[in-house]
Amino acid sequence: MFFLGTQTQNSQGHLEIGGCDAVELAQTFATPLIVMDEAHIRNQMRAMTGAFEAQGVGIHVIYASKAFPCLAISKIAAQEGLWIDVASAGELLTALRADFPTERIIFHGNNKSDDELVMAVNAGTDGAGIGRVVVDNFDEMERLNRIAGEAGARQPIMLRLTPAVDAHTHRLIQTGRIDTKFGFNIEGGGARRAVEAALEKENLELLGVGCHIGSQILDAPFFTLAARLMIEFLAEIRDDLGLEFPELDLGGGLGIRYLPEDSPPTMEEYAATLVGTVRENLEKFGLAMPNLAIEPGRSLVGEAGTTLYRVGNIKRIPNVRTYVSVDGGLSDNPRPALYEARYFALNASKVDQPQNETVAVAGKHCETDVLIEEAQLADPQRGDIVAVYSTGAYNYAMASNYNRFRRPAVVLVSEGEADVIVERETLEDVLARDLIPERLRQSEGVVA
Ligand code: LLP
Repeated sequence: MFFLGTQTQNSQGHLEIGGCDAVELAQTFATPLIVMDEAHIRNQMRAMTGAFEAQGVGIHVIYASKAFPCLAISKIAAQEGLWIDVASAGELLTALRADFPTERIIFHGNNKSDDELVMAVNAGTDGAGIGRVVVDNFDEMERLNRIAGEAGARQPIMLRLTPAVDAHTHRLIQTGRIDTKFGFNIEGGGARRAVEAALEKENLELLGVGCHIGSQILDAPFFTLAARLMIEFLAEIRDDLGLEFPELDLGGGLGIRYLPEDSPPTMEEYAATLVGTVRENLEKFGLAMPNLAIEPGRSLVGEAGTTLYRVGNIKRIPNVRTYVSVDGGLSDNPRPALYEARYFALNASKVDQPQNETVAVAGKHCETDVLIEEAQLADPQRGDIVAVYSTGAYNYAMASNYNRFRRPAVVLVSEGEADVIVERETLEDVLARDLIPERLRQSEGVVA
């Protein structure tokens, strides 16, 4: 049987996560329910930090909170000594409300608003700004310099660079190509001009450069290519401007296991490959080792999430397919529809039986929202609990109210305890922002 983190089979023949019976969790908290395995999250956070420390480098592990932005997970990241990456006012507010130390917050984004920059520059209780703003473009650099000046602050920044790397992942989650909205391209000289411009900004303190080439990357060589291109750029800056930066951020992107046959690099392999390439190239150019930063999201929280659904209608089309419909779908997991992402599922009510019936797991939206085209489930029956694995990253984060569904609840499980960390929306929540203008009320009953 394929188990991740603390998942196992209990004496009832049910799936157990964090010492909690999945079928009981579904009864207690209703479905769809996202179950987050606290021990697995903490292990991943420690393992990532440990893997880089074992390579003998200074490392900031920055949790990319877009993968799962909420208070409790931000709190865990803070407790584990991580930094946090936010990409909007909402993610920044989440980190701040979780009392995340402001000096360990970094802000990404290709179109940050003035309001967001003001919030970032004034976030600290002591009047200091957040740890780093990752400046993406010249326009933002001007605005941030002005806003920091108005706040009487000198804001530490990094520059987001784009090395030309075509990572082998879905084209919609590739971000390191030349043809991308993100960052200063190294090719063509944009990155070079950005460094020169940033050095002249009196209210900005340029600490280094960073890149992020994509997500769910399963081949280590793509990371090494990006690292090599970044260091070639650093050598050019040293040669021409006589300057070496104290920091280098190599972004996120390490892939995870969605299916039993997936084999992403381990954190140890990832760290060894990345640091090895960085060392080799720094030595080639006679550059000193900067403090490294990485920005993992998915690899910290992805496998820790399991979504529990209750089986409803089952439609058997002889010689074609059996559709097992569950009580969620596109609204809690848009990834199959968006990226043709594939998932593993099992019948969590019958883990002790062979998972050998091939079915499609379908959502309940008014379109063909098939979550898994070919899942193997043990004797699926109405009322059974189906568990879909590896839903901890970019599922809740991208959930919607399509068809006016309520977004699901999230529970954090650990050693037999389950705590709600995000409450299920109510139907009243879903309707709460609707308004009927007075003129529509007045025309009530009038048929044109
Ligand atoms: N740093 C930056 C600047 C990023 O844009 C991202 C992800 C990360 C770090 C974290 O990458 P990770 O380690 O999680 O791969 N919604 C898509 C993924 C989009 C990723 C966006 N940026 C999906 O569901 O696959």
